[in-house]
Amino acid sequence: RRVLVLNGPNLGRLGSREPEKYGTTTFAELAGVCEKTGAELGFEVDVRQTDDEAELVGWLHEAADGRTPVVLNPAAFTHYSYALRDAIAQRTAPLIEIHLTNPATREEFRHTSVVAGVATGTIAGFGLDSYRLALRALTALDS
Ligand code: DQA
Repeated sequence: RRVLVLNGPNLGRLGSREPEKYGTTTFAELAGVCEKTGAELGFEVDVRQTDDEAELVGWLHEAADGRTPVVLNPAAFTHYSYALRDAIAQRTAPLIEIHLTNPATREEFRHTSVVAGVATGTIAGFGLDSYRLALRALTALDS
């Protein structure tokens, strides 16, 4: 079973990006963790990152067409991208919104997610474990 793990803007800079908030694990290491966790759960995990809204929307269309479950960290797009929301609304399989940090404890503008209302569920605030927990949650969902 295939799963897409999609990551939005600035997440490619994990490791050096504000490590006090996002940790020192690099994006490549995070991708490895997702692949390993996925393999343990019987998933073939495809991890991708883009800074480009259009590319991310395209990947969500691909997931909708393929009935592919998605773990999505929409990063800053979470808070304002109606294009992303509309793409997610077309989903044909579970989609779990995740965040490394807990946006509810941070700046006011991060308290709004325009994505949450069309996601299957949200996991936030557990660092790398947010990704592991989301993959685990997918195993419990019948798509
Ligand atoms: C984030 C939280 C967002 O508010 C922020 O814009 C990010 C990362 C997280 O994983 O904690 O880029 O999605």
